[in-house]
Amino acid sequence: MNQVYIEDISKYVGERVTISGWLYNKRSSGKIHFLIVRDGTGFVQAVASKSDVGEEAFELLKGVTQESSLRVSGTVRADERAPGGFELLMDGVEVVQIAREYPISLKEHGVDFLMQYRHLWLRTPRQHAIMRIRAEVIAACRSFLDNNGFLLIDAPVLTPAACEGTTTLFETDYFGDKAYMSQSGQLYMEAAAMAFGRVYCFGPTFRAEKSKTRRHLMEFWMVEPEMAYVELDESLCIQEQMVTYIVRQVLSKRQRELQTLERNTDILEKVSPPFPRITYTEALDILKQNGVELEFGDDFGGGDETILASQFDRPVFVTRYPTKAKAFYMKPDPDNPEVVLCADLLAPEGYGEIIGGGQRIDDPELLRRRIEEHNLPIEAYQWYLDLREYGSVPHSGFGLGIERLVAWICGLDHIRETSPFPRMLYRIYP
Ligand code: 4AD
Ligand code: MG
Repeated sequence: MNQVYIEDISKYVGERVTISGWLYNKRSSGKIHFLIVRDGTGFVQAVASKSDVGEEAFELLKGVTQESSLRVSGTVRADERAPGGFELLMDGVEVVQIAREYPISLKEHGVDFLMQYRHLWLRTPRQHAIMRIRAEVIAACRSFLDNNGFLLIDAPVLTPAACEGTTTLFETDYFGDKAYMSQSGQLYMEAAAMAFGRVYCFGPTFRAEKSKTRRHLMEFWMVEPEMAYVELDESLCIQEQMVTYIVRQVLSKRQRELQTLERNTDILEKVSPPFPRITYTEALDILKQNGVELEFGDDFGGGDETILASQFDRPVFVTRYPTKAKAFYMKPDPDNPEVVLCADLLAPEGYGEIIGGGQRIDDPELLRRRIEEHNLPIEAYQWYLDLREYGSVPHSGFGLGIERLVAWICGLDHIRETSPFPRMLYRIYP
């Protein structure tokens, strides 16, 4: 048995092979079955004529239902008319299991229904394309950082300290003490940056966001680089290089998947440094010109971010948000302490913030004061304050949300499809 994968089928033209997979679709005429078989690496048409497979196998195939598992054997033929350019002229079949009636037929279904069957929905070509692009994005993040002197340091998931405010914490019991699911590995990366210089973590992060939007998940994956002796401007240069690298990797390696998603790639092709940079205050002016009146200190909503991003043909950095609107650890701008040295990167086409980051407070006294002002329990942050007592240096970092980036690159309406098993407001099944 010459067992092969569909993605390699072009290498076996004229040879007899076996493919182990599942039945995706079937069409039959009196003497021929046309099976579309998938094996996880691709889809191929397998043609079974009564004369080639024999009476018994032909009858067996009549009863094979959608998603039944089976091994099909036959000769590979190149045929331009076949989907994918190759087909299998079958001479044998082994049915592993006849599937029960499959809930997801090949017609359109509503999203709620599909979410309920997420474990099966993953089998479709569209979901394959998204998951492969997600994997490519993650691989590109890691190779960019690994090749640019960053050391991977894993951050804990259970933590006693809030990083991004206390309103979105998932709390759990830790042997009688309170612990939280990590909102961000940042604070730990700051410790690691003081140990290793340039570091990053990559892992799941959690936010109990009581908001039901197209951009929010309760659990998402974030890559968080942190760099000692790096100030805001240099951090932005690294971010634009990294995003450009990721987009180019996907464009060069995942064209077929982008086509499956019918993604118009014009905007993606244009992504290259430098990205425009505007300040929060300039952003307020742009919004005003577009009929949105916000006051200094207000946070941008999703619609505001879309207006801002639509002014530019590539991702845009919005820098120097009001100190009051941002996290406790952000360093005030020495030229204007009303704002902090931070930046959000907004994606084009209405995808909103894909990166949040900035320069961190390096002065121990100021940091202590901020922790108090934010009513955070100082005991839980003592170790973090230590970092400012033992060789404090200017340092910066950022967090890139994988799902937001994938949603933009894929051109999806909603972030839920970027996660294999999304955790959403009021939905944790399957
Ligand atoms: O802006 P955020 O909250 O920044 C931080 O967590 C920093 N501590 C990161 C750092 O500097 N190391 O989140 C960073 C990114 C956002 O830009 C967004 O892409 C993503 O994480 N994100 C979410 N993605 C999906 N669902 C949510 N609920 C998200 N919240 C943030
Ligand atoms: Mg943010």
